[in-house]
Amino acid sequence: MKLSPSFLLGTLGMSVALAFSSAAVAQPVVVKFSHVVAENTPKGQGALKFKEVAEKLLPGKVEVQVFPNSSLFGDGKEMEALLLGDVHLIAPSLSKFDRYTKQVQLFDLPFLFDDMAAVDRFQQSEKGKELLNSMRNRGLQGLAYWHNGMKQLSTNKDTLQKPEDVKGLKFRIQSSDVLESQFRALDANPQKLAFSEVYQALQTGVVDGQENTWSNIYSQKFHEVQKVIAETNHGVIDYMVVTNSKWWDGLPDDIRDGLQKAMDEATEFANAEAAKLNERDRQRIVDANKAKVVKLSAEDVAAWRKAMEPVWKKFEKDIGADLIQAAQQANQN
Ligand code: LMR
Repeated sequence: MKLSPSFLLGTLGMSVALAFSSAAVAQPVVVKFSHVVAENTPKGQGALKFKEVAEKLLPGKVEVQVFPNSSLFGDGKEMEALLLGDVHLIAPSLSKFDRYTKQVQLFDLPFLFDDMAAVDRFQQSEKGKELLNSMRNRGLQGLAYWHNGMKQLSTNKDTLQKPEDVKGLKFRIQSSDVLESQFRALDANPQKLAFSEVYQALQTGVVDGQENTWSNIYSQKFHEVQKVIAETNHGVIDYMVVTNSKWWDGLPDDIRDGLQKAMDEATEFANAEAAKLNERDRQRIVDANKAKVVKLSAEDVAAWRKAMEPVWKKFEKDIGADLIQAAQQANQN
């Protein structure tokens, strides 16, 4: 039998198409993970660990690309980028979700948690875990909580001991209405700014002060442009690792399971590292001798707590009294 040229061409075309489609199937799923902090921080280390474990568990099937330091998206844009599918994992601080749910604002209530162990207990509780699913109707799926640590307060003034010391000062805050209200309660002026803009704002005096963890203060060099850091431990900066729920649900089962396993392992690692990194960076700040680190007496802490108290009442309805109560219970071991 003689084969016509058009038959031969057609067959050739089909094999080329098949070769291309099997090459396409063999391509790894690219997982872009964007965040705003340095690599030598709890979140930076967690993201790298996630990459390492995911690529080990799913060899050739996934490629995790980590973009630290707002190099892909800053915190003003990363949530939209996630919803548009331009990035697949982000880990914003819990303060940055208030456009998506009011409940997560719980974590911003001043002096809610006594320490990081209490934060951890709440996050692992039934109610804490429920919050990971609370933004599904907005297209966001929470995969894990990652710790950073307790917040400290800093300014460019000589004294920072009592609430009166911050009256009239301008403070950079994350995009959270609770934090805005916290500084208003102190008669200070809060200003929402992206994380990547904070150093310059402090350096040029656009703002006088800020609140953050030791790890963020050190890695961003805030202590070099502030005069005093008070060990207030008045709140927490922790993260929710979130993904686009449609993308996540659409992954092949083996890939989604592998990524969840990698996330669990990275979470354990990052959460174990967080306290160590913050302690290390606190000491580095003390040793650098640029900003003075001041401890507060029990009376001072009580005064800060009292000054910030009105914030609780203001947000109780939005957040939910039951959720606040559940979080408070986590303070009892
Ligand atoms: C901040 O904006 O100060 C922090 O949320 C940054 C971060 O991600 O730790």
